[in-house]
Amino acid sequence: MPEDAPPPPSPGIGRERQFEVYIGGARGALPHVPVSFERLERAARRKMSREGYAYVAGGAGTEETIRANREAFERWRIVPRMLRDVSRRSTGVEVLGTPFQSPFFLCPIGVLDLAHPDADLAVARAAAAEGIPFVFSNQASVAMEETARAMGDAPRWFQLYWSTHDALVESFLARAARCGCSAIVLTLDTTMLGWRVRDLDLAYLPFLRGRGIAQYTSDPVFLEALQETLRQEPPPGGRITLSALGTLWELAGSFPGSRLHGLRSGLARAAVRRFVETYSRPSLTWDDLAFLRERTDLPILLKGILHPADARAAVEHGMDGIVVSNHGGRQVDGAIATMDALPAVVEAVGGRVPVLLDSGVRSGADVFRALALGASAVGLGRPYVWGLAAGGEQGVREVIRNLRADFDLTMGLAGCASLRDIGPDALQRA
Ligand code: GLV
Repeated sequence: MPEDAPPPPSPGIGRERQFEVYIGGARGALPHVPVSFERLERAARRKMSREGYAYVAGGAGTEETIRANREAFERWRIVPRMLRDVSRRSTGVEVLGTPFQSPFFLCPIGVLDLAHPDADLAVARAAAAEGIPFVFSNQASVAMEETARAMGDAPRWFQLYWSTHDALVESFLARAARCGCSAIVLTLDTTMLGWRVRDLDLAYLPFLRGRGIAQYTSDPVFLEALQETLRQEPPPGGRITLSALGTLWELAGSFPGSRLHGLRSGLARAAVRRFVETYSRPSLTWDDLAFLRERTDLPILLKGILHPADARAAVEHGMDGIVVSNHGGRQVDGAIATMDALPAVVEAVGGRVPVLLDSGVRSGADVFRALALGASAVGLGRPYVWGLAAGGEQGVREVIRNLRADFDLTMGLAGCASLRDIGPDALQRA
């Protein structure tokens, strides 16, 4: 798939999907998952645990950043142009030298088993079937090797959290390359977890239950270091309550092998402890990037860039791309919206590397607006998790197809036949 040229302009990804839905309706069938974002989220919520839903939906603090992301998109209005022959359109794009059918990708999202038991595997299959790149999460529920196997040679990247354990970072990089990941997306904005009020109110963090640490428990370097942690592991203390037992059971299930073995050996508990001690490195500075550069030939994108001076520094430090992101509003409450940050970042980068954007993308109009302000591609986050929760692999596929169709129609109706036609003059500040 990555080697393929983008498909020739077609009369209508958008119209095809519309008619698929309407003809289905004439035969009495509704779409597998709701098309509207709000209804999709409600359908997902009904299927998820209270904790799982809160973890995915939540943001930092008062969740002002989540709202700001939406408001920033909505402050830009598309100004459609007429009589421009948009009968044949192409939504194809090239990112980091690879052609893709659509200018969007699936963001890395951890602990997808909170949404559906098939978790990363369902998303991987859906992304592969639809030809959309999937960014494997460092905090995935499924080891990257297994997820990669589910994708054939479809495009995938790997998102890295920089652990305090250098050898583990090297191991993740090497595994990602072996798994066919064609880029490393280094997330910079989560050297500590943000103040997430919904999770705090429920006193719930999935990692402490052994969820979302599959990249670690499948890693030879992590497993070796775990032996040391095991030797230091204090005996379990405190009162044994029913809920503590439940937590232990959940924990043990997260470790490869049988639950009983995980429980008896103390491996699962030690893995969580070791993960908590080493998963992030708040001391990181720009100088550390050389370490990464020397250890992978893959392109490196920096995710979480919001300031133009940081964007400039990224290019000066030999990085290959930027993802303008505020982590879906999960890290800094009151942070700048990504659509507000984008124009200055694009200007600072001056076309030297691609600038991608995520956080708050909900519709084809959002994709259009981000591209018009200079983004090369756009990351989709929560909507595909809601699709996964509401409808498994098929749900994710429909979310992708709906966004692709919505974008294609928005682009055509705005008077653009391809991405080349989408520029700042297609927008006006509201
Ligand atoms: C981790 O990446 C999170 O946002 O929870």
